[in-house]
Amino acid sequence: MAKTFIITGANGNLGVAAVKAFLDKGYGVVAVCSSVSRLEFAVSNPMFEWKAVDLSDEKATRNFVHELVSRKKIDGALLLAGGFVMGSLDETDQLTLKKMFALNFETAFHLSRALFPRLIKNGYGRIILVGARPGMAGEQGKHTVAYALSKSLLFKYAELLNQQAGKANVVASVFAPGIIDTPANRQSMPDADFDDWVKADDIAALMEMVCSAKGNALREPVFKVYHKS
Ligand SMILES: NC(=O)c1ccc[n+]([C@@H]2O[C@H](COP(=O)([O-])OP(=O)(O)OC[C@H]3O[C@@H](n4cnc5c(N)ncnc54)[C@H](OP(=O)(O)O)[C@@H]3O)[C@@H](O)[C@H]2O)c1
Repeated sequence: MAKTFIITGANGNLGVAAVKAFLDKGYGVVAVCSSVSRLEFAVSNPMFEWKAVDLSDEKATRNFVHELVSRKKIDGALLLAGGFVMGSLDETDQLTLKKMFALNFETAFHLSRALFPRLIKNGYGRIILVGARPGMAGEQGKHTVAYALSKSLLFKYAELLNQQAGKANVVASVFAPGIIDTPANRQSMPDADFDDWVKADDIAALMEMVCSAKGNALREPVFKVYHKS
């Protein structure tokens, strides 16, 4: 039977690539996004459904997950929702920190916390978290302090999920992309060599590998997907 994955941030740069990669390989996809403006290729596919959910709202996220798992077997989630803000320590106040925490950590935490017990019960699950290079390497984060801190929590969270899963075949992975080749990044860094940047399609293909039988032996994986950047 085809596996089905929730993909959050599905109408974003990485999300569109992930939806395409998973549908192309025959998986079911439940997309979480506020619009499907970039997912026209998916909407008539019977393996695709989508729902708008504010993932910073814990109760709404839990209700979404519970309703979904009551009618469909879910094999895991790609938690791609997130966002970025520049800012040195001087420029990082409490509000900025809270916004980044909500966007990058809570969105992933709320959904995975609701889904995790069901994956354990099913005896299979893959949870993919998206960190970022500044969330791993201090020198990379000094101009993006709130972003780096919020992303850094995802690495620790994956460790805790994996500890909790024990020998159950439920694995949390973290992808730490370098700069992704997106229209927004091209616009904000027009003089950069875009060939150095990692492509969303390449990250999506690796995520699919993790969720496929080829990824069965992986445990506690952290993927540095930097390409040449
Ligand atoms: N772009 C990069 O260079 C880069 C580098 C390293 C890591 N990353 C990480 O990779 C992930 C994907 O990046 P991207 O470039 O594809 O980002 P993106 O195009 O901005 O997409 C992120 C998506 O997150 C969703 N989102 C934000 N807040 C939400 C909320 N409260 N509830 C539900 N959805 C919410 C938005 O969906 P809706 O608009 O539909 O609500 C948005 O489409 C992010 O976690 C990002 O931090 C990106």
